[in-house]
Amino acid sequence: MPKFAPLNVPFPRRRQTASVAFWMILVPLCIFLFLELLLLSYVTRSIALVYFLWVMQDQAHNQGARRVDWLRKLSLWVWFRDFFPISLRKEADLDPSKKYLFGYHPHGVISLGAFTAIGTEACNVSTLFPGLNIRLLTLESNFKIPFFRDILLALNVASADRKCINHVLGGEPGSAVMLVLGGAAEAMEAKPNTNTLVLKTRLGFIKLALAHGASLVPTFAFGENDIWDQVPNPKGSLVRKFQTIFKSFASFSPILFHGRGIFTYDYGIMPYRRPITVVTGKPIDLPKIEQPTEKELLEYQRQYIAGLQEVYDKYKDEFLPGRKAELIIS
Ligand SMILES: *[C@@H]1O[C@H](CO)[C@@H](O)[C@H](O)[C@H]1NC(C)=O
Repeated sequence: MPKFAPLNVPFPRRRQTASVAFWMILVPLCIFLFLELLLLSYVTRSIALVYFLWVMQDQAHNQGARRVDWLRKLSLWVWFRDFFPISLRKEADLDPSKKYLFGYHPHGVISLGAFTAIGTEACNVSTLFPGLNIRLLTLESNFKIPFFRDILLALNVASADRKCINHVLGGEPGSAVMLVLGGAAEAMEAKPNTNTLVLKTRLGFIKLALAHGASLVPTFAFGENDIWDQVPNPKGSLVRKFQTIFKSFASFSPILFHGRGIFTYDYGIMPYRRPITVVTGKPIDLPKIEQPTEKELLEYQRQYIAGLQEVYDKYKDEFLPGRKAELIIS
């Protein structure tokens, strides 16, 4: 027998569940809406086509998004935050006369901690870092989805593309981006009670930060891997082979994740109610170097990894008491 949610769940909790369910269906909903417009009538079809043409030429995702503050401040995101709950804390203040490249780890299934803490004001990120304008970056393909792309842009989410990072970090002081560095490879390792990162092969972000003299901020999200289970995919398994082939065609990997349901606790694609604590580490100031040597890149990568490890070690017992493995950085 599946474990059903009791009927007397208090209203605030129902509201939290509804907001997460809404987020889970948002992409299909946006696509459905666009198809409806295309099919409904001549008038709606014209609207859809004009919108499509406008999207084709819109470059906002490569120019640091199109921030709309009231959308970031909706109560919806506070309910969403409290479902888990998700919180944000910092190890150091960040001087708004500098620029920053935040790295976020681990990727998790869809980096919901980064979305909530940085992509909305639910954790008061703008108050926590006065004078900073942090753009959360995500796969460029997300900006091809009708309407969803506009919601992302309004939430100050932009494209994780070199072009966009150069545009933002080339801007005014206080400009910042947050990159989920592990990418699709790390998403395949997103399993509860483990923290396996793909980081040693990543040097591009160091190069970009050096080109602009931006400071690096290692950020660790305790619990990001705990909110969904994933179908076992050990190296060499059929599931993993399929995921790896798929990843070489698309830029993301098909994660076979599962969690709880809306009305049941055993099966479904809803995440589990488990806490995520996002901690931003101490900034690592970099000089401005246009053409760094391999040795320089590796040295700053070493400093970055040391900073990340420091954050992990400081809070692992407090925020990951049930962990089954320590931080693995490969
Ligand atoms: C965010 O700021 C508001 C207003 O100052 C406050 O009421 C709220 O508790 C804060 N939320 C968090 C998560 O700190």
